[in-house]
Amino acid sequence: MNFIDVDSPASDTPEAFWQEVRAAYPRQEPLLNLNNAAVSPPPLEVEQAVVDAYRLISRNPDVNMWSKLDAALPDIKAELAQLIDCAPTEIALNRNSSEGLSTAIFGIPLQPGDEVLISPWDYPSARAGWLQRREREGIEPVDCQFGLLADDEAIIEAYSRAITPRTRAMLLTHMYHWNGRLLPVERLCALAREHGIITVVDGAQTFAQMPVSFRKLGCDIFITSLHKWLGAPVGNGMLVVREGLIDDTWPLLAPFDPPPLRIDKFDHWSLGTYNSAIQAGIMPAIRLHRRIGVERIQRRLSELTRYWIERARDIPGFRLHAPLNAGPLDAGPLDAGHLGAVALFSIDGVDSRQLERVLREQHRVHVKFRCVEAVAGLRVSPHIYMRKDELDVFVDALQAAVSSCGARASR
Ligand SMILES: Cc1ncc(COP(=O)(O)O)c(C=O)c1O
Repeated sequence: MNFIDVDSPASDTPEAFWQEVRAAYPRQEPLLNLNNAAVSPPPLEVEQAVVDAYRLISRNPDVNMWSKLDAALPDIKAELAQLIDCAPTEIALNRNSSEGLSTAIFGIPLQPGDEVLISPWDYPSARAGWLQRREREGIEPVDCQFGLLADDEAIIEAYSRAITPRTRAMLLTHMYHWNGRLLPVERLCALAREHGIITVVDGAQTFAQMPVSFRKLGCDIFITSLHKWLGAPVGNGMLVVREGLIDDTWPLLAPFDPPPLRIDKFDHWSLGTYNSAIQAGIMPAIRLHRRIGVERIQRRLSELTRYWIERARDIPGFRLHAPLNAGPLDAGPLDAGHLGAVALFSIDGVDSRQLERVLREQHRVHVKFRCVEAVAGLRVSPHIYMRKDELDVFVDALQAAVSSCGARASR
C-alpha cells in the first residue's frame, strides 16, 4: 500500500489520505465501533500475517514457532525500542497491559509497612493487585485524593502531600481509560526520583496514540498493550524495565532456565508456551504505524474527537467529562487542545446505561458505559480508520436516542 502525501504536515493531511488508511482495515460490522480504547481491530496486513504464521505453526509447531517465528523477536524489540525510546534489552513482550502491570506490581521487592501511592482512577485490576499485596504481605497502598477533572497542579500537589518516608513505589496511569485525562507523568516521575521512589507508568492508552519516550518520562517501568493504538494483533503487550531495575524485579512466572538475556525472564519462554503467530503481526503493525507517523496519528485522533464533540455539544444537557470545558459547554469554539482519542460524556437527565443500550440495539452504535465513583457516562473512542461521516451517523443516532430516552423518562 502506498499512502499518498506521507510527508505533508499532519494538519494538511487530506481526507483522501485517511480514506486509504481506512482501506487498510477490515470493515467493522455489525456495529459502528467507537470503543477502540478497549481493543482495536488489526489492519488487514496484520491479520494476514497472523493467519500465515498460524498455518506455518500447524505444519511443525515446535520448529516453526521456536526456531523460525521467534527468530524475528530481536528485530521486533529493536523496532519497538526505537518507538518508545529505550534499549531493546529493556523490552519484554507479553500478552497485554494487565500482565505487565501484574509483573511490576508483584515483582517490585517491598517490605511489610512499605507504602505505594495509587489513585482512585487507576485501572481497577492494577488497584486490585496492590490491594492483594496488602492482604498477603502487609504492603500499604495509599490513595492520592484528587478529582478526575482536577488540573495538573492539583494532581502534583496531591501526590506530593501523600509522600512519606515509607513511600517506596508510585503507580501512575498515563491516560485514564475512564475519560481520556492525561496525567503530568513526567513531572510526577521527577518528583518520585527526588524521593527515591520507584515509578510504574501504565501507558495502556498512550503508547502509539501519541509520541511517548521512556527516557523522557523518566519512569522505572512502563507497560502497555500493543492491541489498542498500535494495531498489533489482539494479545500483545510490552513491558519496559529500566536497565538498573531488571535484576531486582521478580518475574511473574519463574523462568524455565536462566535466560540468555536478563530481560527475558519477563517474557519469551519464561511465560510458558504461547502463540507466536500473534507476535508475527507486530512487525507489520509497526510498519503501518511508521508510514502514517505518530504525530499525524495523534493529530487525527484529536481532530476526530473534536469533530464529534463540536456536533454533539448542541444536544441539550450535553456534558463533557474532560478537564477542559467540564460541565455544560459554553457557546464558542471548543478549546480541545488536550483532547485525544478517548472522551466521556453524559446528557443531563438521561440515564447513560439506557442510552448505551438504545444506541447499540436501535442504531448499531457501540460506545461504552463507564462509571467510577460519582462520574458516569458514555466513553467514545474512534480510531484512525474511522471517517467523519461515520461520526455524523453516531451523533445523529445520539440525538435520536436522547429524544427517545428522554421521552420514556417523562412518560
Ligand atoms: C489504563 C489501562 N490500563 C490497563 C488496561 C488493561 O489492558 P489489557 O486489557 O490490554 O490488559 C487498560 C485497558 O483498557 C487500560 O485502559
